[in-house]
Amino acid sequence: MSAQQMLKVFVTRRIPQEGMKILQKAGMCNLSVWDSDEPVPRAELLKGVAGAHGLLCLLSDKIDAEVLDAAGPNLKVISTLSVGFDHLAIDEIKKRGIRVGYTPDVLTDATAELTVALLLATCRRLPEGVEEVKNGGWSTWKPLWLCGYGLSGSTVGVIGLGRIGLAIARRLKPFGVKRLLYTGRQPKPQAQEIDGEYVPLDTLVRGSDFVVVSCSLTPDTQGLCDKTFFSKMKKTSIFINTSRGAVVNQEDLFGALSSGQIAAAGLDVTTPEPLPTDHPLLTLKNCVVLPHIGSATYSTRGVMSELTANNLLAGLTGSEMPSELKL
Ligand code: NDP
Ligand code: DGY
Repeated sequence: MSAQQMLKVFVTRRIPQEGMKILQKAGMCNLSVWDSDEPVPRAELLKGVAGAHGLLCLLSDKIDAEVLDAAGPNLKVISTLSVGFDHLAIDEIKKRGIRVGYTPDVLTDATAELTVALLLATCRRLPEGVEEVKNGGWSTWKPLWLCGYGLSGSTVGVIGLGRIGLAIARRLKPFGVKRLLYTGRQPKPQAQEIDGEYVPLDTLVRGSDFVVVSCSLTPDTQGLCDKTFFSKMKKTSIFINTSRGAVVNQEDLFGALSSGQIAAAGLDVTTPEPLPTDHPLLTLKNCVVLPHIGSATYSTRGVMSELTANNLLAGLTGSEMPSELKL
């Protein structure tokens, strides 16, 4: 390809080398990379995307009408290094005939595994225990010290039994879970495999010992877990969220945790991200907060990077994408 025919691609972050190698080897991209581990500043994003044919972005980049206008009419494809796409203004993208690539499936196992780890860390109070060992709080073995809640014989409720929700349920069942409830927009045939019972949200929230949120963030799920929601949960129940922070009203969650309305919460996602270090949730022993590491295994991030690159190339050449988001 001659220099004039090369297609301009803006990459908004340093990404795992697996994906960069694919883009470089393709020999059709004039690559411009925000070469940093930190998010691209908005002004640099607007500058970098100007005239681009392809945009490779992350979940921390808000791709709205302003960015699309700054890109201009060349833009054919947006490929995001994530399965979540709530950071993309889908209506605007669709209006402009731009295709979107994303990374479903390849991160399902890693994210489900992290969700189980977070659930166990929260219900069995692991961070508190580790802290007590370090600070000298461990005086002797005591019958009721650091007791928590176990999965055996419990009822687990999954909000959003999609790819990740189902993978979480599969992993939790062997812990001796007695009932597996789930809710969503419609019943899922694949729920049979885990003896999942499709129930209304209200039934799930009232009846579960563990409530696990794994739905996508949409206008319907934004702020879904609020004061009313927490007030219906059992006092002994555990709340886990690995979907998106905005599904939860964090002020209401703080109220529920600090008043004893619910026993504990584990969050891999928050609003904002990062959560400020002086945030009230971080003062609570019964709240375990992780820095959005659901998909963070070396191999998963490598495969995500490859898929993101291949989606982008397919969008540039007008061919079938390995994982195209149906708009
Ligand atoms: P899927 O699309 O397979 O699953 C999303 C699920 O959300 C679907 O089952 C969908 O139900 C459900 N849902 C949508 N609207 C509602 C609603 N109003 N009430 C209840 N459920 C609803 O996506 P994935 O499982 O692959 O990913 C899910 C989300 O997990 C991503 O969107 C992302 O935000 C988050 N994620 C977080 C990660 C992390 O690092 N913490 C890593 C990866 C993903 P239906 O099928 O009926 O529409
Ligand atoms: C996603 O892909 O949506 C996650 O939040 C990060 O892997």
